[in-house]
Amino acid sequence: MSNEKAIEAIQLTKKFGDFTAVNQVSFEIPKGEIFGLLGPNGAGKTTTIRMLCGILEPTAGEAHVMGYDVAKHSEEIKQRIGYMSQKFSLYDDLTVYENLDFYANLYGVPREKLKPRLAELIEMAGLRGHEKQLSSGLSGAWRQRLALACAIVHEPPMLFLDEPTAGVDPVSRREFWEMIYQLAGQGVSVLATTHYMDEAEFCNVIGMMYRSRLIALSDPDSLREGAIGVLFEVDCQEPSHAELVLKDLPFVLDVAAHGVLLHVQVASEKQKAELEQTLQSSGIIVERIERVLPSLEDIFVSLVDQENRQQIRADKD
Ligand SMILES: Nc1ncnc2c1ncn2[C@@H]1O[C@H](COP(=O)(O)OP(=O)(O)OP(=O)(O)O)[C@@H](O)[C@H]1O
Ligand SMILES: [Mg+2]
Repeated sequence: MSNEKAIEAIQLTKKFGDFTAVNQVSFEIPKGEIFGLLGPNGAGKTTTIRMLCGILEPTAGEAHVMGYDVAKHSEEIKQRIGYMSQKFSLYDDLTVYENLDFYANLYGVPREKLKPRLAELIEMAGLRGHEKQLSSGLSGAWRQRLALACAIVHEPPMLFLDEPTAGVDPVSRREFWEMIYQLAGQGVSVLATTHYMDEAEFCNVIGMMYRSRLIALSDPDSLREGAIGVLFEVDCQEPSHAELVLKDLPFVLDVAAHGVLLHVQVASEKQKAELEQTLQSSGIIVERIERVLPSLEDIFVSLVDQENRQQIRADKD
């Protein structure tokens, strides 16, 4: 394989007994890029990461990380990656500095590099002045920044982040992503999973996982441009009634509630008038119908719908 790829996964598959947790997943990440793996609970994101980190052996397919085969060279891979696991562990009875020092020893950071490296990480994570604080006393966002610092103490060229921002407020999430950008700017390749669709915007490439399969793989703009049909935002009275009415229309591909607004996916722009008429003839007062660009969440919902419809058809045959 070319040296320019941080990750190459080919038909990567993991079964637990009869259950397939990851089903023939293929993708590539060029070096220095940020790849976002999105998907609901149980989609297979963590299992994919664990195979790529050399922790879990694939049942079928193959993968290379930084040029090394995950099935044969897990030790070489472990030396070259940082892994912030979903339930990352900091030592609560150690201070900020002691946690970093512990991981530095674990990863074999040379003694002479230790002090400057830890100082650099403390600065990066915005933890200066808190070195002596027990990590148990840190807020969620600070713990996450410290965990990231621990994961990169040995300057790995590849970083795996499994839901690094779960449960953190939006401002801190943005700050966390700025740190990720800085790392990518230094040439570090990143694979991050998230439930937050807005975070996908920070990624160069997005993979959407659903029920163990990769159902989309693209950059955010192409995903939006490739979305099927046209999306209208409908502001009307009785939105839940309207949702039921619209769902039954043959030309409506999908209806999703966004707060009190509805996002209605149809095949063509021309169907706006029909939407309006149908709602009015059902006694629903329409305030506004406007074409909007689909968000990544809209696209994900629509891809999942397609996937489910295909599955239903396949089950019937
Ligand atoms: N060791 C295991 N043995 C059996 N089943 C497992 C094992 N690990 C994971 N699974 C199952 O595989 C599926 C995928 O799990 P995985 O943890 O990869 O999902 P995920 O996308 O990371 O979900 P979440 O967003 O909740 O973290 C789930 O149904 C899970 O129960
Ligand atoms: Mg997971």
